[in-house]
Amino acid sequence: MTSNKKNKYNCPRLKTGLIVLLVLVLVLGGILAYIAWDRGFREHPQPEWVMRDGATRFMYASIGAEWDAGIPYWIFMVLPRMYPDKLPGPGGYASLGIPWEQGMELPVGFTKKTIGFPRVANNCAVCHTMRYRTSPDAEPVLVPLGPGHTSNVEAYFRFIVDCAKDPRFNSDNILMLIELNTKLDFIDKLLYRFFIIPITKKRLLEREAQFQWIYNDAYPEWGRGRDDAMNLTKYFMIEVQPPDDGTFGPTDFPAIWNLKKYDSQPEDANPQRLNLAGDTWDAYSVVMDSALGLLGAEPPDAEEFVGHVQWITDYAKNTPPPKFPYPVDAAKAAAGSIVFDRHCASCHAEDSDKVGRPLPLAEVGTNRDRLDTWGRKYTILANQVVEEMGLERRGLVEEDLPGYNV
Ligand code: HEC
Ligand code: HEC
Repeated sequence: MTSNKKNKYNCPRLKTGLIVLLVLVLVLGGILAYIAWDRGFREHPQPEWVMRDGATRFMYASIGAEWDAGIPYWIFMVLPRMYPDKLPGPGGYASLGIPWEQGMELPVGFTKKTIGFPRVANNCAVCHTMRYRTSPDAEPVLVPLGPGHTSNVEAYFRFIVDCAKDPRFNSDNILMLIELNTKLDFIDKLLYRFFIIPITKKRLLEREAQFQWIYNDAYPEWGRGRDDAMNLTKYFMIEVQPPDDGTFGPTDFPAIWNLKKYDSQPEDANPQRLNLAGDTWDAYSVVMDSALGLLGAEPPDAEEFVGHVQWITDYAKNTPPPKFPYPVDAAKAAAGSIVFDRHCASCHAEDSDKVGRPLPLAEVGTNRDRLDTWGRKYTILANQVVEEMGLERRGLVEEDLPGYNV
């Protein structure tokens, strides 16, 4: 100090006052930041039973989709009560035909994870879990990795967006219903009112813009047990112009057990391929791309994400199909095997060199809609996008494909 002139900053009382104020602001800011993290973003592990065995893990474990594609649990829970008319039938989410185990809080393939607040997202099981009964009133048996032949996933996609578009989707109405189910504390109430509900609405409306063709009534419905998988992948990964390119190619959900059969190596001349058009010969690539589609964004933690992808790949590779659950009439089977050998074996026998390879469209004799939803141009772009995320996979084959896989 060169001068003893007093300026206002040298007044010791004011100085102490300012310091106290500063400390208060910092403490308050810290508390607010902590609350925002704790109630908005703090990750809690799922309950232990989820990882009890491969089946529960496949059906209920989070693969990280709650971050960007998750719906706040309490909003998810009240929507069917608020908008029963927007679902395909009575019974809430059960009307979507997605397997639902007795006593479980959520249908198969719906994951619950708390990231600040409980959220609901999806995993592979929503489309890849089969259900059968041995008699009309028997308990259904669930088979993870089997095709979800009754699941109407398009109705689900549409339902949540239709809810968000409805003017009644606002904080007052939704909070009122939530509070019939649970007691939110003061902070949660504020968060739901001013952040969680408005942001959820905004996000769902953005989803409609990104996946316009799903909400375009000009296309037929996918139907149960089917979805337009390559379009879902394309519109998520690539900025397609125009945003609805006029293609439409829903296919059945396949079984994804026994994926070991695709254990080919890059040097194999004619490896078996996956997907209806044989888009790749690497199971790990399909699993990774499917998982990215469920996340709807770049994974927040690449290492953790790759861990999920590897586990699912190993589980699907090493799980054999279940035994056929119904009695087989030996006489009919013997007669059928003659027909099979004569008319089907050239393509479908296990040792046929056609099995698992694309058959030219003219020979299949069906339409080319599914082929047109994808192709070399999009493959190159999709492979680039995944590489830019820093994720390694062998990728999709960068060529236009001739037909459908046997
Ligand atoms: C919304 C429904 C849906 C979800 C979710 C989904 N899939 Fe699929 N999956 C499909 C459909 C439909 C196909 C067939 C696509 C085609 O070829 O047109 C498919 C194909 C596959 C195949 C190729 C099977 C074969 O033999 O050719 C594998 C493997 C697969 N999915 C794994 C997964 C994994 C693993 C996940 C989760 C990370 C997942 N899928 C999530 C619908 C889904
Ligand atoms: C020339 C080759 C060829 C012959 C012969 C052939 N198929 Fe196929 N089959 C295909 C191809 C290619 C597909 C997939 C294309 C599609 O689904 O449109 C297919 C699909 C199927 C599917 C659907 C499989 C699924 O997972 O959805 C069944 C079932 C089937 N064939 C049964 C038969 C039977 C039964 C015979 C004999 C009576 C037979 N096929 C003869 C080529 C053949």
